[in-house]
Amino acid sequence: MSSTAWALAASLLWLAATCYWLRPLWRRQQTTGEHQTLVVWASQTGQAERLGRQALHALQAAGQSAAGLPLGRLTPAHLLACRQLWLVASTYGDGQAPDSAQAFEHRLMPQGPALPELSFALLGLGDSQYPHFCAFAKRLESWLRDKGAQPLQDSIYLDNQDPDGLVRWRASLAQHTGLHELPEDDEQPWQPVTLLSRRALNPGSPGLTAWHLSLQADALGRWQAGDLLELQHAGQRRLYSIANQGDNRQVELLVRHVMKDDGSQGLMSGWLCQQAAPGSLVEARVHHNPSFALPDRRAPVILIGSGTGLAGLRALLQEQLQRGQPAWLLFGERSPEHDCWLANELDHLPAEQLLVQRCFSRAPTSAAAGYVQDLLREQPERLHDWIDRGASIRVCGSMAMGQAVDSVLQGLLGASAIKQMAADGRYRRDIY
Ligand SMILES: Cc1cc2nc3c(=O)[nH]c(=O)nc-3n(C[C@H](O)[C@H](O)[C@H](O)COP(=O)(O)OP(=O)(O)OC[C@H]3O[C@@H](n4cnc5c(N)ncnc54)[C@H](O)[C@@H]3O)c2cc1C
Ligand SMILES: Cc1cc2nc3c(=O)[nH]c(=O)nc-3n(C[C@H](O)[C@H](O)[C@H](O)COP(=O)(O)O)c2cc1C
Repeated sequence: MSSTAWALAASLLWLAATCYWLRPLWRRQQTTGEHQTLVVWASQTGQAERLGRQALHALQAAGQSAAGLPLGRLTPAHLLACRQLWLVASTYGDGQAPDSAQAFEHRLMPQGPALPELSFALLGLGDSQYPHFCAFAKRLESWLRDKGAQPLQDSIYLDNQDPDGLVRWRASLAQHTGLHELPEDDEQPWQPVTLLSRRALNPGSPGLTAWHLSLQADALGRWQAGDLLELQHAGQRRLYSIANQGDNRQVELLVRHVMKDDGSQGLMSGWLCQQAAPGSLVEARVHHNPSFALPDRRAPVILIGSGTGLAGLRALLQEQLQRGQPAWLLFGERSPEHDCWLANELDHLPAEQLLVQRCFSRAPTSAAAGYVQDLLREQPERLHDWIDRGASIRVCGSMAMGQAVDSVLQGLLGASAIKQMAADGRYRRDIY
């Protein structure tokens, strides 16, 4: 070989080696470095995600190369490559992070890299009726400041969707993007819907009566299983889990008729379950809640709930059965004689398709006495088997039930596995 050929071969070898060693760096730049602006949301019931996506569209409309993702997927590499971070975060439970962000808070926040080159804008969503107002968003802000990140502006903490705060958030987006017209607010418009029918689910129950309601849904637009319906009556708004799939012209709800200690009835539930006659109109809009939807991949699902939590679970169940995938439903109520809600539709499917297990808190002599968390605790092998087969978990209903189930799941599967499942969308809760 001539000396020129040797030199050429050596150069090619050097180039190949350099390319090989630089591969990880290039790959990192492709996945994170191309977006110097990130919009990140931490959301339990969809509001923070909707506002985060809105901010993302505004930044993109202004020509910025911005990407959006849930906080649970944010990595140290993203943070190091990013120069501007827009964050929308709600607070859930009793001052906690939304489920999907808990692994981030427990794993990444205690360590995480220094971020002196990062600027951030933060919108916290919360409700000052809770003792720890916007607590998670506030923890995020102090963590970012401790890491040396610089605020682009004062953080905005929104109390119960306070319109003034939203105007300030949109104004700051307009200022930073230079856009005079921000993309439209994609919140659904209010639509009048008609109450069609009402049927008691638990006549004679020792608990408060719960009702199955059907509303005419022509004007509502599409929804997917897991979404919520927001209703407005007498100036007040309330959320309800939609109890059926979205390919229908009627929307179904399961509503508990709330009676307070002083004998008065709940404002919205009283109207829905007693005062409104069939044919009455109420303002409604679909409140999308994509994080509670079934995951895209086809796999078994474990549905756990009590009382009106059956609403959200029923819509998911309908979709799961349509996919031809198995479901395991654990449902808790009070009395075996009066609280076998929706038995007609739940109890006729083969167990390989739908395994239904009920338990009752007011049935001391019954084999099915207890709470859903007890039911779960008694079946660790079945739980592990379903999880090993790729099952997701969805929990819907009361806060107390959701917390008790969470602690049993953490005991049986491990706290860190549960947080990881939440970050991956395999464990989600709609509890209230
Ligand atoms: C994400 C989400 C999904 C929801 N899904 C459903 C659903 O599918 N079905 C449903 O019925 N509700 C659901 N709710 C609750 C619903 O939004 C209302 O809070 C509920 O109907 C009470 O509203 P109200 O106007 O009748 O009572 P209000 O006039 O607001 O009075 C509420 C008072 O009643 C108490 N109270 C609330 N609920 C109960 C109860 N079940 N039993 C006893 N006391 C109670 C409260 O502590 C408070 O003191 C959901 C809430 C959220 C946040
Ligand atoms: C069960 C439940 C618990 C909540 N806990 C808190 C809380 O501790 N602190 C707070 O500021 N807001 C709390 N909120 C209010 C939510 O943060 C607020 O409704 C927010 O808009 C929800 O946004 P998201 O849909 O993105 O999750 C709670 C709401 C629910 C339904």
